[in-house]
Amino acid sequence: MSTLYLTTSEEDLRIAAAVIRTGGLVGFPTETVYGLGGNALDPEASKKIYAAKGRPSDNPLIVHISELDQIGPLVKTFPENAQKLAEAVWPGPMTLVLPKKPVVPDATTGGLDTVAVRMPANPAALRLITLSGCPIAAPSANLSGHPSPTRWQHVRDDLDGRADAIIMGSPCLGGIESTVIDMTGQLPQILRPGLITPERVTEILGVPCGYDPAILGKPDPGLVPKAPGMKYKHYAPRAQMTLFSGERSAAAAAMEKEAARCRAEGKKTEVLIYDTSEEAAERLFDDLRRSDSEGADVILAMALPEDESVAFSVMNRMLKSAGYNVIKV
Ligand code: TXA
Ligand code: MG
Repeated sequence: MSTLYLTTSEEDLRIAAAVIRTGGLVGFPTETVYGLGGNALDPEASKKIYAAKGRPSDNPLIVHISELDQIGPLVKTFPENAQKLAEAVWPGPMTLVLPKKPVVPDATTGGLDTVAVRMPANPAALRLITLSGCPIAAPSANLSGHPSPTRWQHVRDDLDGRADAIIMGSPCLGGIESTVIDMTGQLPQILRPGLITPERVTEILGVPCGYDPAILGKPDPGLVPKAPGMKYKHYAPRAQMTLFSGERSAAAAAMEKEAARCRAEGKKTEVLIYDTSEEAAERLFDDLRRSDSEGADVILAMALPEDESVAFSVMNRMLKSAGYNVIKV
């Protein structure tokens, strides 16, 4: 197929919405990462999404809405705590897992009886959903196993010829995927860490909020993550990636020494150092993709101090990218 490239103008968003309505797939910007969207209520559209990404079909999709009243038809219950979070955070980088109504096809939820719902904070995304007249199922718009796309050019690199249209929106400022929160239990539980932290959830609800134990530390064959996507190896750059953890200046010195050694061996070496967790979130996936496209052999990245929740969320991605290869300085 030949992919149509569209702007965020009202006219172009109408064209994109028509693509969604007629069962096609559209790459579109959100505040976290770009999504590959299709009609969430059409099982054939969901199947196309899995095929386009090369994604395992047991890994459920997130359903995107543009108005709060679009959630009622999708979920069996919308508990008070979920409503409070939605009102406080949406539109924003948070996904709520709730019991689904039968109208949401199994093809969209990977056969689960729950559905993940999110309202993204990007004007073009919201307008696209509204114009489509249906909720939009959208995973990140990357080929399965590649870093999530934070620029439209990344979507083009992965999905040109596989998506019917790609919207050339702005770069994503969030940079890591939304926080996924399970709201089906007594207390909220974070299934995928993101920019909405457990502290923020507790501040809004006044109840404790923890992480799914399976996403803490290295993957453990005895612990299966509740978000099926968290069990896959993600974000792997082609280069061999190593994290350096420890006191900042000592880690920087060790990285410099290792970079010099690698370069002396003729290896193209990329060094990644971020000043803040937010900067790391915004730049990480673009840096990984750039390193790959420039043919880097080695990536040396400074670890973030995991005593703070946003840093923990970014480190969750960095550790996967590096295959848990960490040098403690
Ligand atoms: O920021 C984001 O969330 C982006 C943008 C496009 O909205 N989307 C995204 O989708 O990251 P995806 O498909 O790459 O990741 C969805 C994650 C996966 O880990 C999946 O297993 C989990 O959410 N998930 C989806 N539905 C679920 C459900 N019903 N129960 C548990 N986990 C679910
Ligand atoms: Mg993804």
